[in-house]
Amino acid sequence: MLAGEQLFVQVGCGKCHTPELRTGDSPVAALADRPVRAYTDLLLHDMGPGLNDGYTEGSAQPAEWRTPPLWGLGLSPNSQGGSYFLLHDGRARSIEAAIAQHGGEATGSRDRYDRLSAAEQRQLVDFLKSL
Ligand code: HEC
Repeated sequence: MLAGEQLFVQVGCGKCHTPELRTGDSPVAALADRPVRAYTDLLLHDMGPGLNDGYTEGSAQPAEWRTPPLWGLGLSPNSQGGSYFLLHDGRARSIEAAIAQHGGEATGSRDRYDRLSAAEQRQLVDFLKSL
């Protein structure tokens, strides 16, 4: 396991950005019981007041968002004029800025990331850019 990947799991990012899900049964053998390394649990989480947009969508409360897949994160600036536009409204212009906006259920994980050394934070972010 890469050092950055280990730190990602250690600080709890992987609790929501689940590294691997598996497909279920399928009549198409090639699709059955396959790993999907999408880095999401596909679930809604309360992300705290900073990410509350004041709109209830269906049964999702205003601070609840679905965990986005991190698969392909490193390539996302290529399709957006060379910049990151992360989180539900594109407000975060870097991976570090997106992490800093994590609150609510993700507060503990964000705090553990904040306590890493600068070198460890860089390793974690470099790992995310490799996805
Ligand atoms: C409690 C669940 C949870 C935890 C823990 C968590 N995240 Fe997230 N993450 C989310 C949700 C939900 C969003 C989307 C928020 C939004 O759209 O406003 C998100 C968004 C992101 C994004 C932006 C992705 C995009 O395409 O916009 C990055 C990068 C990210 N998380 C990295 C991390 C890292 C690194 C950690 C660990 C320090 C972490 N997350 C911990 C739930 C979580």
